[in-house]
Amino acid sequence: MSAHPAGPRSANPPAAAAPVPPAHTAHAESVWPANAQWDDHGLTIAGVRASDLVREHGSPLFVIDEQDARARARAYATAYAGCDVFYAAKAFLSVDFARWMLAEGLGIDVCTLGELRCALAAGASGDRLLMHGNNKSAEELAAAVEANVRFIVVDSLQECSRLAELASQRGVIAEVLVRVTVGVEAHTHEFIATAHEDQKFGFSLASGAARAAVDTVVASPHLRFAGLHSHIGSQIFDEQGFLVAVARLIAFCRELGDAGISVANLNLGGGAGISYLPSDDPVSIADLATRLRGAVSQDCAAAGLPAPRIIVEPGRSIAGPAGITLYTVGTVKDVVVGHDLARTYVSVDGGMSDNIRTSLYDADYTVAHASRRAAAGDEQRLARIVGRHCESGDIVVRDAHVLADISPGELLAVAATGAYCRSMSSNYNHTPRPAVVAVRAGTSTVLIRRESLDDLLALDEGMLR
Ligand SMILES: Cc1ncc(COP(=O)(O)O)c(C=O)c1O
Repeated sequence: MSAHPAGPRSANPPAAAAPVPPAHTAHAESVWPANAQWDDHGLTIAGVRASDLVREHGSPLFVIDEQDARARARAYATAYAGCDVFYAAKAFLSVDFARWMLAEGLGIDVCTLGELRCALAAGASGDRLLMHGNNKSAEELAAAVEANVRFIVVDSLQECSRLAELASQRGVIAEVLVRVTVGVEAHTHEFIATAHEDQKFGFSLASGAARAAVDTVVASPHLRFAGLHSHIGSQIFDEQGFLVAVARLIAFCRELGDAGISVANLNLGGGAGISYLPSDDPVSIADLATRLRGAVSQDCAAAGLPAPRIIVEPGRSIAGPAGITLYTVGTVKDVVVGHDLARTYVSVDGGMSDNIRTSLYDADYTVAHASRRAAAGDEQRLARIVGRHCESGDIVVRDAHVLADISPGELLAVAATGAYCRSMSSNYNHTPRPAVVAVRAGTSTVLIRRESLDDLLALDEGMLR
């Protein structure tokens, strides 16, 4: 288990591992939505000033640059022309956001009844939907079958029988992709191509479980084997992991081909990395597509197989960079953590309830002043941006330079929070979840309204007694 960030390591010198860049470098374009700009009054996104957004919609606030999210979806549609792209709804989902994805030509990948209902409410027809998950309930499978979802990704033999029964009761044949564990795990800058079979997802290639699952699907009169699915990780910078996965999948396609089973679709999952820090340098959507498509055609040609239709399921690389979180500073406190060493704790009005990724994965973020502009030469101090929750690990940004006179009431913006923040948010400490607003051409629109305390208490039956 890794050390608790505010426990054993709290007395480490700040940023022992890497120098923390000065505050003004936090404005680097690569980490902010395409339409973010700073002037002397602070941050504007798509022509809407951050301070006006908070005045109108409250704080903390998730803000999504609509044009940026749509442009990313379009970039996927273009780069994968002739393939299928399903936006991974788990990254962030609202009815309007799903509408944008559909309008830009993408389908939607859902994992639960909730995500399915939201995508259907956005107007998605079944053929624009794909469902996966390692433990879908009978209700979820039935809803997927009834919605004529284009592909259901199966993850266990029990699920194959459950789905076959549900399809047979409804007199239909369900189109199935078999999720394969290829023995590759990849995250950010590293990938490991051995022994990552020990996990809950998929059927292992190495053990023969994947072959047994394909045979089960092929033998069922109520299921149609539509292809294979693989997802090797998220926030991946090193494409080698994908390429090894492709090579293993095509070798499996060849084995299946020898048994007379053809693989019509090959789903390579999501996983493309994004810039959280100015130093991050992910592969572009277009370049990754070129390499993946090239690898599939080459490996298929070498194996003497027709190339299957490629499917991808990007989430983070569409929603992540288009979104930011605005927070209001509540307190600024200097804490002595060692000999001659003080750390400034800047507490904001959100935290692990709206962004669990720092506590959960040690994720790094870029933070910048949003109600003024930091300039080179301004006096600065090293700070830790923390939340308001009852956990010392409630950290938003571990180490960041902020202006030395940072004070309560001013706004901070955290970049690249569009994915896996609102969707993983909680009501810890009875905290209502922030609103999500979209900005475009000088106007803001609420996508998801802020929760109220009444919303939370309405769930509590004790209120009625
Ligand atoms: C099966 C599957 N597909 C797609 C995704 C989306 O991945 P990303 O957001 O990294 O693109 C995930 C995320 O974990 C996933 O588990």
